[in-house]
Amino acid sequence: PSVKPFTRALPIPPVLSPVHSDRSTDYYELSVRPGVAEILPGVPTEVITYNGSFPGPTIRARRGRSVKVAVTNRLQTPSAVHLHGGIVPQDSDGHPLDVIQPGNSRIYHYPNDQRAATLWYHDHAHHLEAEQIYKGLCGLYLVEDPAEAPTLPRGQFDIPLMFRDVALDDHGQLLWAMFDAQRRSTVLVNGVPQPVLRVRRRKYRLRLVNTSNERMFAFRLGNGAEFVQVATDGGLLARPVRRTEISLWPAERVEVVVDFAKARGGSQITLVNAQGTALENTEVMRFEVVDGIRKDMPDTDDSSVPQKLSVLPAVGAPVMTTRKVVLSFDFKNLVFLINGKPYDPHRTDFTIKRGSTEIWEVTNADPDPIPHSLHVHVVQFRVLDRDGRSVEPWEAFPKDTVSIASGETVRLLIRFDAPYTGVFPFHCHFVDHSSVAMMAQMRIVA
Ligand code: C2O
Ligand code: CU
Repeated sequence: PSVKPFTRALPIPPVLSPVHSDRSTDYYELSVRPGVAEILPGVPTEVITYNGSFPGPTIRARRGRSVKVAVTNRLQTPSAVHLHGGIVPQDSDGHPLDVIQPGNSRIYHYPNDQRAATLWYHDHAHHLEAEQIYKGLCGLYLVEDPAEAPTLPRGQFDIPLMFRDVALDDHGQLLWAMFDAQRRSTVLVNGVPQPVLRVRRRKYRLRLVNTSNERMFAFRLGNGAEFVQVATDGGLLARPVRRTEISLWPAERVEVVVDFAKARGGSQITLVNAQGTALENTEVMRFEVVDGIRKDMPDTDDSSVPQKLSVLPAVGAPVMTTRKVVLSFDFKNLVFLINGKPYDPHRTDFTIKRGSTEIWEVTNADPDPIPHSLHVHVVQFRVLDRDGRSVEPWEAFPKDTVSIASGETVRLLIRFDAPYTGVFPFHCHFVDHSSVAMMAQMRIVA
């Protein structure tokens, strides 16, 4: 089945309502269950879902108010929910072995004692996460703080864009195989290929989230217009940065403001993946500019991007420890390794003092073209340099996932300032790699 591009309206994942709220906490319910998505118009596609929605519903949390999510697993396989980028206690981290068995429920507690940011939740069950995320188990989790940059576009002008690639068969069903990135040539935005979003002649805030297993994007606007980047993984940057191309690796988030005021009513602006090949949809979605109340005039727009967006947290105490993390592929046994070893949930590689600041030197030791990344649970880190060259401000801080090209070494400055102790994973976020052992653990001690 084929679709006429740019005819379907961009779907926006539903915002989940709390089932109950009290003075300190909002209570939510999620059920993990098989479902049906309409990826191609009129064609039911079997997927797995949170609450029947593909992708899952958005949770809007507020900084300083905690969230409790009761999750029931109605699949035949185990599931664990991880809040990616969340600063959460160990028993709510969705550790790969700390799963919800089929038929069971558990409650995750998210304190939201962290900066406002675009986070996302996804499956993390040991060896299953690649398949289960691919088939639909992910959703947005927005930590909001009314005190942060209140003049940025908001409400209907604040749009989430979750990108992922899939492979579809002739009947519109998802094809799944590990390491099958070549065949995953249909790019979905919020669950559908090549949607169109009608926009007014004014500024929009777009939250770009790459939920793909392995696909890397490099986004450009077809009319050559600029993105003004305002936030990264862990929330607002100190200052906005103008960019014409935005690269986005799996699990990374970038928030941009795009101003459509100068585009004429009726014009079409395509979001292009400059890293795509001709085999796939390099034209990922389209913005169709519509006139507002007055024809041929920009719309009224009281939003603005302040030159100072936020004050970033200080770097922290002196560095006591430098550690090495080496990412590589074992071509003989076909497993991915961290520091020469496959994942073993009973091993912890690093013991880290809570409150300390460390430098991690992370090397992708694999030959071209094997890219990797590193995601560290329960922290937001600073990227110091790549092969000794300092990184751009939009990539420096605050990050929880960093891209590492083949042969490259990236240095991270990590402050372990979460109030929690226990065992937390760190891993490559090409989830086909982490599902096949590219994961390790640290123990944070008091
Ligand atoms: Cu988004 Cu441990 O993962
Ligand atoms: Cu990897």
